[in-house]
Amino acid sequence: MDHLVIQGGVPLRGTVRVNGSKNASLPIIAAALLTDEPVIIEGVPDLLDVRTMIAVLEGLGAAVEYDQERALLRIICGELPPAAPSADLVSRMRASFLVLGPLLARKKAVSLPLPGGCAIGTRPVDLHLKGLSAMGASFSIVGGRVEGCTEGLRGARIYLDFPSVGATENIMMAATLARGSTILENAATEPEIVDLANCLNSMGAVVVGAGTAHIRIEGVPRLGGTRHGVIPDRIEAGTLLLAGVITKGDLIVENLLPDHLKSLLAKLTEAGALVEEVGPNAIRAAAGERSAAVDLKTMPYPGFSTDLQPQFMVLLALAEGTGTVTETVFENRFRHVEGLSSMGARIQVEGRRAIVRGQPCLTGAPVVAPDLRGAAALLLAGLAAQGKTELLQAEHLWRGYCSLEERLASLGAQLKRISAEPERALFTGS
Ligand code: EPZ
Repeated sequence: MDHLVIQGGVPLRGTVRVNGSKNASLPIIAAALLTDEPVIIEGVPDLLDVRTMIAVLEGLGAAVEYDQERALLRIICGELPPAAPSADLVSRMRASFLVLGPLLARKKAVSLPLPGGCAIGTRPVDLHLKGLSAMGASFSIVGGRVEGCTEGLRGARIYLDFPSVGATENIMMAATLARGSTILENAATEPEIVDLANCLNSMGAVVVGAGTAHIRIEGVPRLGGTRHGVIPDRIEAGTLLLAGVITKGDLIVENLLPDHLKSLLAKLTEAGALVEEVGPNAIRAAAGERSAAVDLKTMPYPGFSTDLQPQFMVLLALAEGTGTVTETVFENRFRHVEGLSSMGARIQVEGRRAIVRGQPCLTGAPVVAPDLRGAAALLLAGLAAQGKTELLQAEHLWRGYCSLEERLASLGAQLKRISAEPERALFTGS
């Protein structure tokens, strides 16, 4: 168990660089299962979730080399023996379920533990299974595992009841090797979907329309290897921009794609923050006089990202006036409210809506991180609060942010990481 001790009240100043996207890297690592040729992925951040995904692929028989220094991953999924990822690994990270589509396409059979619910909701996989069933897969759920098989996937017209990111990715990957063409309607349009499609097309797939709600995939007989660089992590970028505003500092966040942050930039401007593009891949973020409270509603992309909702709530907790946060994507994503409240925030939760009465300041306190983005929110609150904050279960952070404490310290943050026990050896590779 790790914890972070944060001495708050220090405005963050300087320049910080964004790493490669976790949520683009994970499906692209799974996509390597679609070919027996080498897949080289650049810009893969050294995160717990990446190490878990690597362990899942190794458990399936893939050969993986990860050069953390160069953020370079090399994967060869040669002859894959019949194997099933361990329940422990899949239960640790929902994204492990992204091997479902590629294994069905490549091996025509798959056995996977159901990804349990998690801190932010039940998170079923019905849309994944429904879409793949339409393509000729059949599934049974036995003892908490999904057993799937197919005589051979065939193209289908699929309508997603909800634009699920994972379901879009699983179906898209499976469809690349199906017989015939697949039309996916009401698909997720997140930038990570586009990055995955670009990688698949570089492997010889034919994916058209990624980034829109209507994606067409023409099946091909096989896919080849590739070398692909992942996009910058828009959620890390947004978290860092919010850190600059919330601590009343002045940050330049570089190696980002402003186009992926439009909804956040609009909300920050509405709240009175100073945000401006200072280059094609850099944004400056500073606080205005005092942030004005705004109303926020999370939506599938290009709406405001649910993954930045907890962090933005910290800005509202310190804003002038009362703002509201409506979480429409997950049913239980307010678990960070408890910690914020113990730091003096005044937040009332009513179902999927939180009413936030801004306060002049927060005060440091011992708080427990509930999940990855809740941990990020409590970290931002500790940086802005007066006094000392102890963030317990800080290891949630390492799932989605690498070398975060060093980067924040380089911007003036006063924090110290205390590890109660060595990080669990998740990663079996080099
Ligand atoms: C991806 O999760 C991201 N994870 C999440 O980021 C992100 O919050 C989420 O998309 C929404 O943008 C990765 O990309 C690895 P969904 P995913 O399927 O694919 C319901 C982070 O912090 N649903 O779009 O699991 C589901 O319950 C993480 O980096 C079904 O009902 O999200 C949820 O309410 C957290 N049935 C909603 O859709 C299904 O079959 C969105 O889920 C699938 C999903």
